[in-house]
Amino acid sequence: MEIRCPICKDVLHKNENTYKCIHGHSFDIAKEGYVNLYLHKSETSGDNKEMIQARRNFLNQDHYRFLLDELNKYIDENDVLVDLACGEGYYTSKFRCKDRTGIDLSKQGLRYASKSDKDTTYILSSIFDVPLYDNCADKALTIFAPIAKEEIDRILKEDGRFILVRPDEDHLFEMKEVLYEKPYRNETEDIMIDGLVQEKQLKIHQKAILNKEELHDLFLMTPYSNTTSLSDKKKLDSCEELSVTFAFIIDIYKKA
Ligand SMILES: C[S@@+](CC[C@H](N)C(=O)[O-])C[C@H]1O[C@@H](n2cnc3c(N)ncnc32)[C@H](O)[C@@H]1O
Repeated sequence: MEIRCPICKDVLHKNENTYKCIHGHSFDIAKEGYVNLYLHKSETSGDNKEMIQARRNFLNQDHYRFLLDELNKYIDENDVLVDLACGEGYYTSKFRCKDRTGIDLSKQGLRYASKSDKDTTYILSSIFDVPLYDNCADKALTIFAPIAKEEIDRILKEDGRFILVRPDEDHLFEMKEVLYEKPYRNETEDIMIDGLVQEKQLKIHQKAILNKEELHDLFLMTPYSNTTSLSDKKKLDSCEELSVTFAFIIDIYKKA
């Protein structure tokens, strides 16, 4: 997959430890293996170390393996794939195609991803300004992350597909029952994307019994860790074990 220079939009060529374009713009490859193409350094956000570590601990237990296996059914071996907001690359590294690019704004996430997976190109960049060319991807995916609608439409090939993963209404409901007096179910309205139409929607779910550490990691990797009061957070500490529902919606879009 060709990468474009975030400054002049010309092709970046890989040369040992740098990517360079013909205009002399040069970007170092970090020792772990990802390249930083994000120009607004002072604004860097993305998930922090604690969240990334928690997600890594949790995902590496393979509780979401059934989601990965389902996604791989919609990916062909020869696909050119872009994972938009790939985090620490749990899914990216295991997609069954060979040409894979993972994009995220979290340095910590990409450190983990690129250290352990040398077969994927990992780029530090916003998914709202993707350093890739128009119509370059057979598959673009976004899993539990913001949806960069315009960029998805731009980078997809005419016969490409965008795969979106988001929580179904009962996802983690038992955890919310522990945390909140009035637990709520997730909203699951269809998401419209200009230029794309929904081709298919799947709902998959599975239950697992989680121990205290797994619950802690799971909580930290969710948005609830930022929105839950300290007193509610403590309720989870008293839970030695909990049976939790994992419920995902997988939307597959094609070009209109
Ligand atoms: C909940 S995590 C999901 C990560 C991964 N898809 C997974 O499911 O394991 C959301 C990710 O979106 C990334 N993110 C948020 N806003 C972003 C942006 N504007 N550009 C790139 N990545 C972004 C965060 O850094 C984080 O890694």
